[in-house]
Amino acid sequence: MTQHYDVAVIGAGAAGMMCASVAGQRGRRVVLIDHATRLAEKIRISGGGRCNFTNIDATPQNFLSQNPHFCKSALSRYTPQDFLALMKRYRIAYHEKHKGQLFCDDSAEDIIGMLKAECTLGNVTWRMPCKVQAIGKSGERFRIDTDHGEITADSLVIATGGLSIPKIGATDFAFRLAQQFELKIVAPRAALVPLTFDAKGWQPFVPLAGVSLPVEVETGTKKARGWFREDLLFTHRGLSGPAILQISSYWQDGAPLTINLAPETDIAEALIEGKATSKKNLGNQLAQWLPSRLADEWLLANGFRPDARVADMQDKQLRQLGASLNSWAIVPNGSEGYRKAEVTLGGVDTRELSQQTMMVNKVPGLYFVGEAVDVTGWLGGYNFQWAWASGVAAGQAA
Ligand code: FDA
Repeated sequence: MTQHYDVAVIGAGAAGMMCASVAGQRGRRVVLIDHATRLAEKIRISGGGRCNFTNIDATPQNFLSQNPHFCKSALSRYTPQDFLALMKRYRIAYHEKHKGQLFCDDSAEDIIGMLKAECTLGNVTWRMPCKVQAIGKSGERFRIDTDHGEITADSLVIATGGLSIPKIGATDFAFRLAQQFELKIVAPRAALVPLTFDAKGWQPFVPLAGVSLPVEVETGTKKARGWFREDLLFTHRGLSGPAILQISSYWQDGAPLTINLAPETDIAEALIEGKATSKKNLGNQLAQWLPSRLADEWLLANGFRPDARVADMQDKQLRQLGASLNSWAIVPNGSEGYRKAEVTLGGVDTRELSQQTMMVNKVPGLYFVGEAVDVTGWLGGYNFQWAWASGVAAGQAA
């Protein structure tokens, strides 16, 4: 027997639960459909299990999109303060960790429980686990064929997220549906992801796996430049850590990254200055500004002996060494892909959507929210803020 609802939301993750609860609490009859057996797995694993649920300083400048203005309306109408007010009602304790990033004191489960309770307040009907087999439109209504039978709805909200971490249920459902309705898509790409390097070229850096240090990293042209000051981590296959995850969203195939491994120090100048007074060897001298393992391996990889005395070096050699550390230019050969990526860059082209409601301009009643849309936040709670804000925008309209 066909079941009819005012609103069907597909995808019970961050954006989907937020959208369903808001629509339900407006008095709309809502069904929330998800194929997963465990609810909101991405919220559960986020922030090391404590969910970096927003960033108190979030502004539209923290998001990438072909249309950087698109996110402004939803973000200004549902702010980090609004989400904090909701958490306060549920007495969920949180703390700020780093650069405005807010985490739960206890567990990400608190956020999942809160969103579930909000759905209950909105009398949301759950269909989960439930597989969606096909979507159609007859007249004004959407038809959703599922393994629980046929559902019809006046509004259909797609909140199935992006492609990252397929092993916990990510699919290309949103993009396939966008194609079915002939909507433009900005080519999706793994983002907030470790970057990899050609195995042979990376060989000298393999012994550095596990070394972490604060750096400045940049890439791109003046027009589309990414620049971050964060920690970098050497891995067996390449580079990771917050600095690299952030810059990965800006990196284009074939382009170099420029990394300053000692942003506080002009290494060449400091070494040349030290020549007159320092009795130290090169390795020890560099270890003042860099992790000593990095200092030694860097010297060997660049043809210097770590036990050579600084005083015996020519200025020209020290300048070369300083430049290699203060502006290390390196070209990744790719990324660790969706297996490791925190988000998907690109998605449903924002030109297809209303920035007020997230509704598809040419298909009344159809909405896309959350990561499925071409709006991607930096690392640090921004992606959840977008999920909440876009979910609320659609929930108030659908
Ligand atoms: P989300 O992925 O949350 O939900 C999509 C839902 O749709 C899922 O429940 C899925 O099962 C369902 N679905 C998919 N295909 C379907 C289909 N065909 N049929 C039915 N259902 C389907 N962000 C942040 O701000 N702070 C953080 O701390 C982190 N940490 C983090 C860690 C890791 C490891 C990852 C992978 C990601 C993060 N993120 C993050 C990113 C954040 O998790 C992400 O941007 C949001 O969850 C996106 O919310 P959505 O609701 O759009 O998708």
